[in-house]
Amino acid sequence: MKINLSYILSAILAVALVAALFSFFEISGEKARLRNELMNRSSLIAGELGSMPIIDSGLFNVASQVRFSDSLSNRYNIIGFALYHDNHFVPYSHSVEPYLEYSADYAYQSIIADSSFGVYFKTGGRNIYQYVMPCQKEAIAKNALVLYSDASYISKIVRRISVENFFRLFIQILLVVVLIGLLIRWGVYRQINTIVNWVRDIRDGSLEKLREQSPAGFLEPLQREVTNIAFAMQEARAVAEEEARLRTEGEAIWTPDRLREEIRKVLPDKTLVVVSNREPYMHVHSGKEIKCIVPASGMVTAVEPILKACGGLWIASGTGDADKETVDKQNKLAVPPNEESYILKRVWISKEEENHFYYGFSNEGIWPLCHIAHNRPVFRKKDWDFYKRVNGKFAKAVLEEIKGEEQPFVLVQDYHFALLPELIKKERPDATIAIFWHIPWPNPESFSICPWQSEILLGMLGSDLVGFHTPYFCYNFLETVNNTIDSRVIRENLSVRIKDRTTLVRPFPISISFTMKDYEKKDGKIPPASDLLAKYGIKASLMGIGVERIDYTKGIIERFLATERFFEKYPEYQGRFTFVQIGAPSRTRIKSYSDIVEAVESEASRINLKFKLKDWKPILLLAYHHSHDEIMPFYKSANLCMVTSLHDGMNLVAKEFVAARNNNDGVLILSRFTGASHELTGAIIVNPYNTEQMADAIKTAIEMPRKEQQPRMKQMRQSILEHNIYSWAANLIKTMVYLQR
Ligand code: G6P
Repeated sequence: MKINLSYILSAILAVALVAALFSFFEISGEKARLRNELMNRSSLIAGELGSMPIIDSGLFNVASQVRFSDSLSNRYNIIGFALYHDNHFVPYSHSVEPYLEYSADYAYQSIIADSSFGVYFKTGGRNIYQYVMPCQKEAIAKNALVLYSDASYISKIVRRISVENFFRLFIQILLVVVLIGLLIRWGVYRQINTIVNWVRDIRDGSLEKLREQSPAGFLEPLQREVTNIAFAMQEARAVAEEEARLRTEGEAIWTPDRLREEIRKVLPDKTLVVVSNREPYMHVHSGKEIKCIVPASGMVTAVEPILKACGGLWIASGTGDADKETVDKQNKLAVPPNEESYILKRVWISKEEENHFYYGFSNEGIWPLCHIAHNRPVFRKKDWDFYKRVNGKFAKAVLEEIKGEEQPFVLVQDYHFALLPELIKKERPDATIAIFWHIPWPNPESFSICPWQSEILLGMLGSDLVGFHTPYFCYNFLETVNNTIDSRVIRENLSVRIKDRTTLVRPFPISISFTMKDYEKKDGKIPPASDLLAKYGIKASLMGIGVERIDYTKGIIERFLATERFFEKYPEYQGRFTFVQIGAPSRTRIKSYSDIVEAVESEASRINLKFKLKDWKPILLLAYHHSHDEIMPFYKSANLCMVTSLHDGMNLVAKEFVAARNNNDGVLILSRFTGASHELTGAIIVNPYNTEQMADAIKTAIEMPRKEQQPRMKQMRQSILEHNIYSWAANLIKTMVYLQR
């Protein structure tokens, strides 16, 4: 704030005006007083004169006139007097003679009205006051006495007082103005400057500086309020920034609608054909009813939302005991139930085919071959033959479906159909084919034990694109190809060239359906874990959760051993923490799988026996198929989730647990041997073979303060949001479009 010249001039003008006004009133009063005094004095002297013998005798005596005149004029500025008699004046001193001409009328009026009065007139540069008084003397009737006084002294006094007053008041008021100015400058202006500084700090967001500002005297209550407003504003700004960031991100985040639009754009009038062994919906008899269930499969969890969003055709084995009863003549049905958005075509495989293709070669051969879980793969010639046969059967089904379509797009899923790309390509070179391998790809030495490794590799290389979850699996695959078949492996751009055909090998980390809407959903109050456990007769306030198919690769036994060790090391948690294992039995016709189910059950019983209390046990094993809706309350209420796979391509349970935690709390304990551990760095990463480390991880997770849980959980949720299944599909399909011949 600047005080400029116009402010100063205005202030001076105002001060001068006020001073002039005050001195005017004072002077008017003083003038009136002096005039009054003159009048009273004149009347007194005139009265005295009226009673003197010189008047009575009517004689003009020079000697007495001189005496009289001297004594009066010396005392009261009286010039002299005259007697008005018979229409003419008798002056009693020569000095009044020049004034007589101004007095005749007044003297006459005074005699007529018989009253005294005073009148001022100016002559010869002097201000004269004449006081006229009738005086009725017996000897001289009808006389009037006129007394002349020099009143110039009144103007002089008034002028002097005016000047004095004006300057005195001017200086006084100026002093007051300066004082007020200083008060404003140092009192108010300084405080205003302080407020300006607060506001600037608020605008810059320097709230710490604001806090450090010294107390602002009488403005302290305002300072308090401003500080509170600033902090409220900071919070609001943080919320707004977060919302803006999410909005911006939201535009970059893939949604079902965005994927549908993208596919319409890049694949106009084309049907997306997906092939897998496991079907997304399975019909099974349940008493007299037919029930539709979603099988426990990471592949289904990932791929189903894509078909649901974009439509298309999904070809899969019909393995439910009521599947045949729910399809049309072409073995097709629209799914999902009551929300039909794509077509499921079921391919029937015989029991024998199932035994050798599915249980045999796929799950006793390739599965343990690709998972380093120290389970020996079994390769039987018969299984291999059936593997080839079922691949052929599916190839036929696919070719049948794409026969009317130009340059079709086929997306083959997983290790059950390694030969399918080559079989389709042979018949339809115009087709763009991708195979996505949902499980790990081991190092070349491990893979080399497979007697049919070349056939498998050549079958896969029939596709234009081979996808894995991680770059590491891509390199393993390229090395395996390089070591095994006659080809050119180009490591720079991750591709393989055989004769005139090129196959790209790329990482596409798979994910789940998780959009901004899911991310922003608020959970409200989640029922405590104790409520959930109470339904199973367990009294405990802390809960851990594990969800998977019962498979030896999942590290379920290792997790139980870690739980046992946790209770040994930290007995204070006995009676307080229960680990819930949801485990869907899987591939149980294979001995290693029925063995693992048994082992899981007996380990759970052994540990429970060791620690159990009257209404508490350390492990609750729920070994049956649970729907997604049944699993959700466990995900939401658990304090921690354990994913301790010995080897896992990605592991979508980890991502589903994180996605379920809308309140950004809870802790994920995650095996370093999962693909997910590369993305979910907010988890406690463990080696499932290290029982001590895992036992400690359980304790760390239980005791982790909420304020540490939240940033970890947020990081993981954001990572899944940015890399959801729709972005996975978009990347994969866009790469296929790029490869289209
Ligand atoms: C893994 C495989 C899937 C398979 C799932 C369930 O996730 O990658 O292809 O569907 O296990 O196994 P299942 O043998 O029951 O289909």
